[in-house]
Amino acid sequence: MRLPDIEKLVRPNHDERARQGFVSMLRKHAIIDMRRALKDDYQTRVEPALASRGQRPTDWRGIEAAMQSEPSYRFYSSLRYNAQEMCYLSVQPAVERALPEMIDLVREAAASNPAGGSLRLDPGLELPRYVAALDVHLVPGWVHQEHTVDDVSQGAVVALGGKVFTGQHPFRRNLGVIGESIGAWVKEKYPGFKPRRILDMGTTTGKNLLPYAAIFPEAELHGIDVGAPVLRYAHAAAGHEGIAAHFSQQNAEHTDFPDGYFDLIVSSFFLHEIPVKATRNVLRECHRLLGPGGIACHMELPDEASVDAYENFFWNWDTYNNNEPYYTSFRAEKPLELCAEAGFTPAECFAHLIPDFASTGSEKLRQFVRGEYAAPPHGSGGWFVFGGVRGR
Ligand SMILES: C[S@@+](CC[C@H](N)C(=O)[O-])C[C@H]1O[C@@H](n2cnc3c(N)ncnc32)[C@H](O)[C@@H]1O
Repeated sequence: MRLPDIEKLVRPNHDERARQGFVSMLRKHAIIDMRRALKDDYQTRVEPALASRGQRPTDWRGIEAAMQSEPSYRFYSSLRYNAQEMCYLSVQPAVERALPEMIDLVREAAASNPAGGSLRLDPGLELPRYVAALDVHLVPGWVHQEHTVDDVSQGAVVALGGKVFTGQHPFRRNLGVIGESIGAWVKEKYPGFKPRRILDMGTTTGKNLLPYAAIFPEAELHGIDVGAPVLRYAHAAAGHEGIAAHFSQQNAEHTDFPDGYFDLIVSSFFLHEIPVKATRNVLRECHRLLGPGGIACHMELPDEASVDAYENFFWNWDTYNNNEPYYTSFRAEKPLELCAEAGFTPAECFAHLIPDFASTGSEKLRQFVRGEYAAPPHGSGGWFVFGGVRGR
């Protein structure tokens, strides 16, 4: 027996659905079409004009300074900012209507989850200021705000708003492409690797944890996050999928798991959202938690040194415009050095692109692991990952 689908309890009406479809298209237009147009404007108009005056920018900060007063950049930024905010606002009314039913479901899941997973919340956990002090990437209330007992609304807003954000069909199963890509890559690269336990740090609603159930069916799955509403949602959603996943409310900088408890530790879109000091703590914690032969693999934004000045200007936009203040400082770090500082030997550390499994498939992945195929750029068919393998 499976739990009902928590996502289906949220029933947008006709107008809300139309609004969500519009917002998806608006955001896609900003992030894809206008991204191209903006680069074109810089390369064909702004840069040549600066170069003719002997002022060609030499780094991304110079490009940003030059673009800030340009109408193309101002229009792009306004549209992208508003489209981002509207993704989450567009799901809020239907989430509010569904809240009583969703709360009943998360209570049912907490009392007895037929899939065998668990939920361990810690009401005494001190939320890090970097989570609680702002609406990260413009999600009102982010992952943690609670207005009633057993509140799960922020889980639904993040999960469903995320679907509007990526232009995903509302009824598509919500399994994450990053978990799928990292899992497929690890399995192909390390044949015979059989993780006993897998941990996803900063799991939010568990989307990128659940794919490991199919890839490593013997493994016990764990997801941690600091936000209670997202964990309630994650636990109910995993229960609906029939996946036994164990969610606990913990700070990834210092967890209560014993040394060497995990064989595979993963994260996605997590480290750029926390201060570099916290990232150092998280990576040290990964090193402590990994058993012999264990692997830590974090999917992240490409670091500043690995892409050109224009791309750095593009990626760092979020620092000032999207409530993600640590973007620039995180990207300025060198991932291999961060891992070595955390305790991995230089030979154990890695940092490179891997192919997106959903769009490139298993044959390309095999070619990639054999060194016969280069993964596409981050976000365009590839994902940047870094981490360490203990004693391999
Ligand atoms: C962008 S989200 C991650 C998305 C998710 N991994 C995915 O792939 O769908 C970042 C998450 O990290 C969590 N987080 C931030 N700081 C944390 C910490 N110190 N320990 C655990 N989780 C943390 C936030 O609550 C948030 O849910």
